[in-house]
Amino acid sequence: MGLEMEAGDYKYGIVWMDWQHGDLIREFNALHEACEEGVCTMAVMKSSRTLERYVDDHFGLEESYMQKYGYPDFKRHQREHLTFRQKFKEFRETGLDGEKKVGSDLLWLLMDWIIKHIMATDRDLAKFLARKGVK
Ligand SMILES: [Fe+2]
Repeated sequence: MGLEMEAGDYKYGIVWMDWQHGDLIREFNALHEACEEGVCTMAVMKSSRTLERYVDDHFGLEESYMQKYGYPDFKRHQREHLTFRQKFKEFRETGLDGEKKVGSDLLWLLMDWIIKHIMATDRDLAKFLARKGVK
């Protein structure tokens, strides 16, 4: 249906970041595929658990690198992480009924995140870290 994303499209040369972004994009694709096949509920439950862990690990790591290297845009970047955490928390608290809607709500949340954060905010961070010699 044209929604699938290629993990390779979002590689910025920072190995751990590319790796973790790849995990998120694979999770997005798997969820999308499951919803197309009509097994959204199960996939959403599984994805929610995976994402909960992912958000802690991934945001935590990015934030520790930003602090370590004195990233000038740290506050704005961290605010975007907080906003996503909040939206995801709301989704988990209120969104988990109604099979079709749940799947599309989570897919839209992730899609929005991939486009607005990973492809923009994280790209800027990756460029900064690359200049600092981080791999
Ligand atoms: Fe980020």
